[in-house]
Amino acid sequence: MPEVKQLADLIGDSPGIEAIRERVARLLQRQGDLRRLPPVLIEGETGTGKGLLARMIHKAGPRADGPFVDVNCAAIPETLLEAEMFGFERGAFTDARRAKPGLFQAANRGTIFLDEVGLLSEPLQAKLLKVLEERSVRRLGATRDEHVDVWILTATNEDLKSAIQRRRFREDLYHRLAVLSLTLPPLRQRAGDVLTLAEHFLSRACVDYGMPAKTLAADARAALLAYAWPGNVRELGNLMERVALLSSESDVTAEALGLTSVAPSNATATPPCARSPMRSATTRSSRSPAPTSAPPVRRLASTASSRRPPADRPPRPASTEDQQDRSAIQQRAVGRCPAVWSASPQLSPFH
Ligand SMILES: Nc1ncnc2c1ncn2[C@@H]1O[C@H](COP(=O)(O)OP(=O)(O)O)[C@@H](O)[C@H]1O
Ligand SMILES: [Mg+2]
Repeated sequence: MPEVKQLADLIGDSPGIEAIRERVARLLQRQGDLRRLPPVLIEGETGTGKGLLARMIHKAGPRADGPFVDVNCAAIPETLLEAEMFGFERGAFTDARRAKPGLFQAANRGTIFLDEVGLLSEPLQAKLLKVLEERSVRRLGATRDEHVDVWILTATNEDLKSAIQRRRFREDLYHRLAVLSLTLPPLRQRAGDVLTLAEHFLSRACVDYGMPAKTLAADARAALLAYAWPGNVRELGNLMERVALLSSESDVTAEALGLTSVAPSNATATPPCARSPMRSATTRSSRSPAPTSAPPVRRLASTASSRRPPADRPPRPASTEDQQDRSAIQQRAVGRCPAVWSASPQLSPFH
């Protein structure tokens, strides 16, 4: 299988990551013969790299010169989402003084990435299904459809199969979106990648902050391997950045990491309390690499506070992504298996 250079940004050579690289490389190799690009669904817990992978697939694929439109379905109030996604005609609603194209139109000849797709309301799920089937969209207030040629990538940290069983997510839409599905394993199942990623983030943070290079002491390495990483790669990256800033020694010790975890008996095993994907965290990467060349990348500003969650779901906290990660992790951690998840407060990656 020839290497796809852009996929090298996805650090790690654990079997789960290698399998994803291979599947994506196979898809990209064949796409020359394909008249249309298959929708790709990326599943995985928060912080496992779904956003990063989506950008990499776009950059490595045939749409690299086109726009990459990144839509966080959890961050846009439901009442606005339809107008944002599909656009509207002048006068379609009280404030619609001018017609406006939607994000699907903005992504024409490029890629649209619908993050947290599991949170779409039922009417929007129906509309998305129609876009997938007819490859056209209709603006609010319009009488005609517009053709759109977009590659649809989606991501979720929700267990969509169980959402289907609970009749929260349409099964027909799931099958349409998951023509190719990629599952990013949690970091605790990628023991072999933890140190590689830690060193990468530590050296990058030292360079970014103009600090002298730091190394990880043997006990720090052991502590990193013993920890269960409920916030996955994002948590590891944040911890390394914090350590680069706060640790005065050039050799970072376990104490400086401040991780007080009980070693899982088997580093590749999933603790029973951590098997289901987290459902309420909204994740945003502040470090996802931006495309290197011209194509516009659009990210909608977060207005999470006003988005109403579906009736069977508790309201998500209106906060930054790390705070959201933190609350999701605490929800999972507190009272369930606290010894595994507790991190020392003074150097907690979520503080
Ligand atoms: N395998 C990886 N190699 C390098 N960086 C990674 C990897 N996985 C995740 N990251 C980084 O971790 C952070 C969280 O990733 P992100 O894609 O936002 O996760 P998710 O969308 O699943 O919550 C980002 O800064 C991302 O660049
Ligand atoms: Mg994300």
